[in-house]
Amino acid sequence: MKPKKTKNSKHKSGSKKITDRNILEEIIRVDHAGEYGATRIYDGQIAIFGKDSKIGKTIQHMADQEQEHIEKFNELIIEYQVRPTALLPIWNAVGFALGAGTALLGEKAAMACTVAVEKVIGTHYQEQQKLLEEDQKKLKKIISKFEKDELEHHDIGIAHDAEKTPGYKILSKVIETGCKAAIIVSKKI
Ligand SMILES: [Fe+2]
Ligand SMILES: [Fe+2]
Repeated sequence: MKPKKTKNSKHKSGSKKITDRNILEEIIRVDHAGEYGATRIYDGQIAIFGKDSKIGKTIQHMADQEQEHIEKFNELIIEYQVRPTALLPIWNAVGFALGAGTALLGEKAAMACTVAVEKVIGTHYQEQQKLLEEDQKKLKKIISKFEKDELEHHDIGIAHDAEKTPGYKILSKVIETGCKAAIIVSKKI
């Protein structure tokens, strides 16, 4: 049995803050789920518009970045030994349906979908960086980079007249609420 710590046995690493393991697992699980869902949304949109159309090429640029993001989280989930969410098959179907569904409403609606999703994800990534302590500098840097990519996607959506979609406010609200709900369940389940 180890001797009990006395007042004189403080270890030197005591000053370095360590991220709570549960928080760390939730962050990796939900980001992995979200990036997977993002690839499926853009898959759905490209399936409707075709990748050779003008809008298809713009979407493909964002889809390529999402592919990088999911590949990184595929690595991280193994490196950190985090169980992926059990809901991946759902995000597969829901993501594609959301992408294809908004694309069927038109280019502006597809961009409104991007704006709504990326707004939620961007904010979420910002909040996560505050939860990561000094021991997770590498992960923090990755999330910070991805946050910038997501905000770029958001701005692309705005630049492509997302806000001129008929029923923009209600559409955004529905998608934002759905994304927030998806975040809550993907952390735990
Ligand atoms: Fe992403
Ligand atoms: Fe994105």
